[in-house]
Amino acid sequence: MAIATNNKQADQRTIEQRVEYLLGQMTLAEKVGQMNQVESGGDHAIDHLRHAIQAGHIGSVLNQVDVEIVNELQRVAIDESRLGIPLLVGRDVIHGFKTVMPIPLGQAASWDPDLVRDCARVAAREAARTGVNWTFAPMIDITRDPRWGRIAESLGEDAYLASELGSAMVEGFQGDDLGSIGSIVACAKHFVGYGEVESGRDYATTNIPENELRNVHLRPFKAAIDAGVHTLMTSFSDLDGVPATGNGFLLRQVLREEWGFDGFVVSDWDSVRQLAIHGLTENDAASALAAVTAGVDMEMAGGAYIHHLPRLVQEGLVDEAMIDEMVANILRVKIRLGLFENPYTNPSELPAVGNEHALDTAMQAALRSVVLLKNDHHALPLSAERLTSVAVIGPMADAPYEQLGTWVFDGDTQLSVTPLQAIRDIIGSNVDIRYVRAMETSRSRRNDAFDAAAEIAGDSDVAILFLGEESILSGEAHSRADINLPGDQAELVRRVRAAGKPVVAVIMAGRPLTLSNIIDQVDAILFAWHPGTMGGPAIADLLFGIESPSAKLPVTFPRMVGQIPIYYSQKNTGKPPSPDTIIHIDDIDPKASQTSHGLTAFHLDAGYTPLFAFGHGLSYARFEYRHLSTSAAEIRHGDTLQVSAELTNTGKVPADEVAQLYVRDLVGNVTRPVKELKGYKRLRLDPGQTVVVEFELHTDDLAFYDRHMQLVTEPGEFHVWIGGSSETELRTAFCIVDSD
Ligand code: NOJ
Repeated sequence: MAIATNNKQADQRTIEQRVEYLLGQMTLAEKVGQMNQVESGGDHAIDHLRHAIQAGHIGSVLNQVDVEIVNELQRVAIDESRLGIPLLVGRDVIHGFKTVMPIPLGQAASWDPDLVRDCARVAAREAARTGVNWTFAPMIDITRDPRWGRIAESLGEDAYLASELGSAMVEGFQGDDLGSIGSIVACAKHFVGYGEVESGRDYATTNIPENELRNVHLRPFKAAIDAGVHTLMTSFSDLDGVPATGNGFLLRQVLREEWGFDGFVVSDWDSVRQLAIHGLTENDAASALAAVTAGVDMEMAGGAYIHHLPRLVQEGLVDEAMIDEMVANILRVKIRLGLFENPYTNPSELPAVGNEHALDTAMQAALRSVVLLKNDHHALPLSAERLTSVAVIGPMADAPYEQLGTWVFDGDTQLSVTPLQAIRDIIGSNVDIRYVRAMETSRSRRNDAFDAAAEIAGDSDVAILFLGEESILSGEAHSRADINLPGDQAELVRRVRAAGKPVVAVIMAGRPLTLSNIIDQVDAILFAWHPGTMGGPAIADLLFGIESPSAKLPVTFPRMVGQIPIYYSQKNTGKPPSPDTIIHIDDIDPKASQTSHGLTAFHLDAGYTPLFAFGHGLSYARFEYRHLSTSAAEIRHGDTLQVSAELTNTGKVPADEVAQLYVRDLVGNVTRPVKELKGYKRLRLDPGQTVVVEFELHTDDLAFYDRHMQLVTEPGEFHVWIGGSSETELRTAFCIVDSD
């Protein structure tokens, strides 16, 4: 009989008493076992892992989604190991499980934390049916580099938005009560700096000064911890010479001492042993020592801990008290999860996968994540009544898997409804729909079907082009140096354009793309990211005006790759650009003499503005902002300022608008960004309706880390804007004055 089963009668004890009781029973090998996470070995998991689990050498498995196998693994842990400690069962449940939600970057475009929370909740319940009790999400790495394949999995470029949405995901996965059925442990990753990998090349080096680290990259992690996240994952990347998995400054000083985190930290896959490959350590034993000393509680794959930690302790290189603390961190989470009381999974206690609520959530999320980038001459919405024929063209129109995006290990393509199917459902009985796929994949370079595409475009009232990137072109280890539409898609656009009919592009992709080479060839662009299971119906509803687009970009779209990183919250520089201080390469006078006078921070061939700014997103309604005001011209520390503006829907249809609040701190002990998002609200307005949008700004909301790494709000002048994107010009000012 396993000793830990005693805990079943010990529910009255505090969590810390239960942890202490267990630790008191454990041998060193069993302690290190809790710190060991292993790949489950698919169908052979039981044969593969039985002995190690019986011996107490495994604390967690990952990648097992067969509920019978998971239950059997738990049974072996509980009935056949000495202490009967159940297993954490991890899986990358990133944006849905069987029902797939839009990719996280798409969800971020909704600027809707409630919806993002619901998406995570649905995913948690579906995954929990398999016995999975721990997801490796949310990924809250801030990134300003669309070349990086993992931007798809991120919540965009802004620390405030990512903090809000990452926290909502944590709440959705973990639920109100982590111990209740259908709640799973969340994992904020990757701690920290991964989004800054050089040139967007996955796993590459990052160099982030501490001030930038604290003001930008650490913020979403602090927010996730405040939202109750129980685990963190280290980053693969090297941070200023010390890879995150061996970085005690991050894991001990910031995470434990400054923030008081009491959950546990897991390494990324084999990233402990990779410390030697980075060149930080000489061998696996030294890597185990470096990672454990830095504060990595559990090793994901690799085996350096299980093989080397016992000896490192026996040799006195690692203090057993430190191991005890780390094991306590892990046991605390297992107890909070209710794993000792409910180690087994009965799927029938959970909602069915792909149920109406799940599909409806996926539909709402897709509807709110598709950004209308461009809409010349009201090309959209299309009027089903006035059309007789529509050409549907492109490799993404009818691709059930490709609309799901990256990190889809479990997604059910049978649930996917494609745009072609949905368009047929909406208008198929009255309108002639012609379809040519034109390209086998988004990467294809064969253009022998382009004539047929141009022909149906010419014969129809409108051509809808479904373009983009297949799922496999973004995600981990799928970075791109060229982020134009891949393959021969630009040529397809040109050929369809030449047919002379209005052209609407719907683009599905895992990242912002450089669209400069097609932007003038199309009348409208709906940027759908990878919209998930219900992408088709959502896109069809938006195309035909059943709903208005309302998403806003969570990330800046560059005109060309050379502008990267380009993001709205940049610093001013000493030579800020403006339209009259820049020159284009084609306009340089051949006799011009060399000078730097009067010139500013821009590219000769790209200027300084993006193709589409952070926060941009059009609507079928028209929104006008006026009368921006603050409740006071001056405030003191501890005060709250009200900032408000009138917002009117001057258009003809009801629609949602995401009103955004930006602030600039004009002078700081360290220089501050030219604009920072400080609030947003999603509001629905009928035609002709006016509302007052009001935001509250507490002086703490204006705090930043200064050059001494102190969090301060400094007195001085601030600019404040409200509007429909980061390019809004509706601005006023206020001051914080000293309290005395
Ligand atoms: C590596 C990825 O970086 C991480 O995000 C993921 O959770 C693990 N592999 C497990 O699959």
